[in-house]
Amino acid sequence: MALSYKFDSVKYPLWEVLERHRQKSPLSGHVPGHKNGDVFPEAMRSFYEATGPWDVTEISGLDDLHAPEGAIAEAERALSELYGTQASFFVVGGSSAGNCAALYTLFSPGDQVIVQRDCHRSILDALVLSGVEPIFVAPAFEKETGFSLGLLPETLKQAFHEWPGAAGVIITSPSYYGAVADLKRIVATAHGNGKKVIVDEAHGAHLAPLTSFPCSAVEAGADIVVQSAHKTLPALTMGAYVHVMSASVKSETLRESLRLMQSSSPSYLIMASLDGARGYLHEQQMIELTLFKFIKQVRHRLNAIEGTGIIVPKEASYDPLKVVLSPPDQTTGWAFQQALEEQGLYVELSDPQLVLLTLPLKIDKDKADRIISAVTKAVKNTEQSEMDKLIPSAPVFPKMTSLAYTFAQMRQSSIVEVPLSQADEAVAAETIVPYPPGIPVIMQGERCTMEQLKFVRSWKQAGGHLQGGTALDADCILIYREEEKG
Ligand SMILES: Cc1ncc(COP(=O)(O)O)c(C=O)c1O
Repeated sequence: MALSYKFDSVKYPLWEVLERHRQKSPLSGHVPGHKNGDVFPEAMRSFYEATGPWDVTEISGLDDLHAPEGAIAEAERALSELYGTQASFFVVGGSSAGNCAALYTLFSPGDQVIVQRDCHRSILDALVLSGVEPIFVAPAFEKETGFSLGLLPETLKQAFHEWPGAAGVIITSPSYYGAVADLKRIVATAHGNGKKVIVDEAHGAHLAPLTSFPCSAVEAGADIVVQSAHKTLPALTMGAYVHVMSASVKSETLRESLRLMQSSSPSYLIMASLDGARGYLHEQQMIELTLFKFIKQVRHRLNAIEGTGIIVPKEASYDPLKVVLSPPDQTTGWAFQQALEEQGLYVELSDPQLVLLTLPLKIDKDKADRIISAVTKAVKNTEQSEMDKLIPSAPVFPKMTSLAYTFAQMRQSSIVEVPLSQADEAVAAETIVPYPPGIPVIMQGERCTMEQLKFVRSWKQAGGHLQGGTALDADCILIYREEEKG
């Protein structure tokens, strides 16, 4: 068949050397201790036998992620060719490590950097590690749907006007919910002002090579783009890519930053899957129109289910793999999620107003039928809730703020626990994050507003999951003792 013949032409450089090695039935005189999957507890035989033969280490012929010259270098070159980048890198610590390495590479301690406020918490970790001074800028929220549309180019322009010394900007796009920012204009605005751009494209690894999908930060020419290959491509969890689009970013510097942020024993299972995900995407490119049409049809069928419907942003493009479903009347997204799970469909996340599914990047009619059947049944079985008590209103982010303390001052300051009701205007000593989506409501070092505090309380009371907020059970929050600011 013509298609499979073309698929056969796709190369998998890292996978090929790993598989050749396995076929030699090698004796392991090296780490890891499971010895190619031969040493294991009996109860987990199937696990070790299925994964062990490829979970090897930097032995002859298998290359080294931190100084690649052979199969890994070739696999990264294939990645760079597919995406059309200056250079591309495999990452085994997720976009979390990729974001840290990107910031560490592009900015220096003390640099002011504009940061989209609804960023993932890994960006906050990256800010701390790289010692930059963040200026948080609120995204635009669409009135009708409540979706974050990301940073608007005109807001960014204003931010550069107010903070002319800023070295660059960190954008998140697509959002967790699939809304894609106007990246071409954002990059043009930043570069026009002589500023650098990092895009956390954790949810958009599939966008650049598939032209029917919305524009990617790679196509828009951001300086560094970080992608969780594991989120939308067939890569193992923690597998990510970092792409460089700018000649001013030195590959050796980024490689060194990635080494600093990751294990010295990177997983070959993850790296092989990154090679696989790139090859898979290449294959999907060849059948892209059919694939795109199929995904649209699945969305159409989901949207037609009585009692629910797909919510899409009206003022931004969106990723069709992300399906935001409204819960049936008088129910919450949380209750809808529970009903979906009873039908065997596990979703990405839910909140009071919605449930989020990520569709597979695959033409699979049987799976699509099962998803549609599960949603149809779940709509009928979702339990009603007393809405007024449950639904916290979304937090409102200040338009532009810098942190009250530098990260160094935070490390030197002492911390006290106070009731939420007394923390208005206090400087938070902890970051509190509804997870997922992992976007901090309150950030360490930020002055709390009553709106943020109320949101956290009602989210907790409604049973939403939070990271941070260690004292919330006692209705308290950790803050810095003001007079001791270092
Ligand atoms: C926008 C965004 N950036 C970064 C990350 C971290 O990605 P990873 O899980 O690959 O470390 C996430 C995780 O959900 C995310 O949503």
